Amino acid sequence: MEWSLRRPALRIYERLLEQEVDGAPSHVAVIQDGNRRYAESQGKERTAGHRAGAETTEAMLRWCRNLGVDELTLYAFSTENFDRPPEEREALFDLIESKLRDFADREEVHEHRVRIRAIGETDRLPERVREAVAYADRRTRGYDDLCLNVALAYGGRAELLNVAREVAHDVRDGDLAPGEIDADELDRRLTTQPRRDVDLIIRTGGDERTSNFLPWHANGNEAAVFFCTPYWPEFRRVDFLRAIRTYESRRESWRRTRAQRALALVSSLRDRELPEARRVLGRLRGSLPEDELAEADVEPTAD
Ligand code: FPP
Ligand code: MG
Repeated sequence: MEWSLRRPALRIYERLLEQEVDGAPSHVAVIQDGNRRYAESQGKERTAGHRAGAETTEAMLRWCRNLGVDELTLYAFSTENFDRPPEEREALFDLIESKLRDFADREEVHEHRVRIRAIGETDRLPERVREAVAYADRRTRGYDDLCLNVALAYGGRAELLNVAREVAHDVRDGDLAPGEIDADELDRRLTTQPRRDVDLIIRTGGDERTSNFLPWHANGNEAAVFFCTPYWPEFRRVDFLRAIRTYESRRESWRRTRAQRALALVSSLRDRELPEARRVLGRLRGSLPEDELAEADVEPTAD
């Protein structure tokens, strides 16, 4: 609805949202979709849409820094994108190459210690892009105030399949017992190693799918998902703030659900385990309103 807001109203709305959100998600992942549709709506060529999208990417990096996001992962080129017509694909590679080098040379990137890395099957990329990846990696190695992961030749299912094959081989060869396969073991074997799990996925362009993006680190972490209609070149700070608000309300409802489950458990154990019930209820203080705590009918004690 606010898409049609005029500039002054938009500024007020942005300020209101700013007041509403507190505490940015630690790791945000973005499916930057809609570049070509944006270009079409402007009567321009596809590649102009990608260039306009890259400008939003730059702005997004700034917004994340200002709002205290620790890690940003961008879907810049999926394994499916290899199927695009050669001229579009090559133009995209040119753009990604020049942006990686440009980011890596920027004063603000060094001033704010932004770490730039690529994730995905980067050996499938043309040499010029691989060199730009290595350049950005080299120039920002050692930084970690904000981590920027650029997903290139990335496909989540392919990565999980590789891990499954590797595990099967190790079990067959007697190097791994089936009982040793747990989440940590699989996590260690993934080639994508973000610093932290994903808290929020944003997808622009109107499609409501997460398209094979970070299935382990986002779905596994039950990340909040924010779908919105603006094409990526049109995505504004106000949309990002709305996404963060969605993440926060989701986190709040989860916290309550967890606390309510714990409360139900405590209530059922109350008669047998009164001291333990008191201790747990003491811990829940502050997470639930006093009247809900009172329903447990147990006097909480402090730890
Ligand atoms: C999806 O829109 C966008 C892409 C495939 C390319 C995204 C890449 C950039 C914005 C460059 C960023 C560069 C770096 C280094 C991070 P689409 O082409 O699917 O458009 P459509 O949905 O309208 O068809
Ligand atoms: Mg698309």
